[in-house]
Amino acid sequence: MRLTKKEEEMGEGKMGPSVQLAMKAIIQMAEGLGVECLIPTEGSHLGNVDMLFHCKGYVGIVRKFVDLGGEVRIPTSVNPYPADPRNPESPAIPEVYRGENPLVDDYRRLGVIPNWTCTPFLYGNIPRFGQHLSWEESSAVIYVNSVIGARANREPILMDLVSAIAGRTLYTGLHLDENRKGEILFLVKLKKIQPDDFAAIGYYLGKVCGTRIPVIDGIQGQASTAALKNMGAAAASTGAVAMFHVPGLTPEAPTIEKAFGGRKPAETIEMDDRVLARTKEEMSSLKSPGPLDIVALGCPHYTLEEVVSVARLLEGKRVNPGVELWICTHNGVIDLAKQLGVARVIQGAGGRLFSGCILCLHNVEPYSGRRLMSDSGKICYYRPAIYGSQQGCVEAAIQGRI
Ligand code: F3S
Repeated sequence: MRLTKKEEEMGEGKMGPSVQLAMKAIIQMAEGLGVECLIPTEGSHLGNVDMLFHCKGYVGIVRKFVDLGGEVRIPTSVNPYPADPRNPESPAIPEVYRGENPLVDDYRRLGVIPNWTCTPFLYGNIPRFGQHLSWEESSAVIYVNSVIGARANREPILMDLVSAIAGRTLYTGLHLDENRKGEILFLVKLKKIQPDDFAAIGYYLGKVCGTRIPVIDGIQGQASTAALKNMGAAAASTGAVAMFHVPGLTPEAPTIEKAFGGRKPAETIEMDDRVLARTKEEMSSLKSPGPLDIVALGCPHYTLEEVVSVARLLEGKRVNPGVELWICTHNGVIDLAKQLGVARVIQGAGGRLFSGCILCLHNVEPYSGRRLMSDSGKICYYRPAIYGSQQGCVEAAIQGRI
């Protein structure tokens, strides 16, 4: 493979032993995949730390970089804890996640931004158009590629870390212009789009696109930041979609024609009200009516607007004592929610506003067998759940059943 002079020197250890070790891993990966050269990166996001601290191999590698005096060379953030142990609002932390997590301190020593969120593009690690990144977390990767126009592949765990230390990743996939063009025309033909429909639109989108890049037409007027975040997370779960275009809205798609880069769409797919209803039905894999145990909101982490919206729905109400209402977000949003008084409303109604990862929590005991409802396409794909709009979820939490 081709290396620049500087990269050769990095590999020879001229920039220190930690960079040398990181480069060794990156070059081996490139050679194994037949990638010809590397690209300098300007940001990294590390994947989940839920069970990783049980993985002696990974913990040992991180410690090795610390012992070598390593530090991240580019802004590097990290995904959430299962539940932030510092927040009294957090639900009981499952046994499997308790105990000392050496990664917390080792990441700090490497200089990782301790923002503990799956929406780093909104809080703490905000890329700009055209930057090459080495990010993990599929819901974040699809957002930065599509909405911001930064360039990132869905990096595997460890590749995110070595890229952060070396400031290089493989020059392949979505780093290349020719791989960022639209492939499928996806026409949304709903009579009226509600904000909550975006999770279902993304759920269907991922199923029909697989790994292909859709050009989505028909959502332009309604696509808020939260809507695009929720749609992308669902599409990156039901498929391996890592990028989409919305003509007139996303930066690499001023028009439909430009989004396709002069090529014809390989396929045109329509989503009408009938398909939307069928998709919502499919998202609810728990069909039987009955009591609920958990209502989980904030996967990916809720924006401040989404938190405020939940608080409005809870004003003067009380969550059923048999139900846990979880609202996951970034700690910075929690601070703002406190200042706005909306955290008090949520807490007063019996909800829990915390920074955590819903999927990590409810996949293990004591939460794994519980009857759960969510507005998240990602959760409804990965776990038996009842799908509902945010309003439907809050109302069910108050009723205690569906
Ligand atoms: Fe975020 Fe965890 Fe969901 S990392 S996207 S809350 S699975």
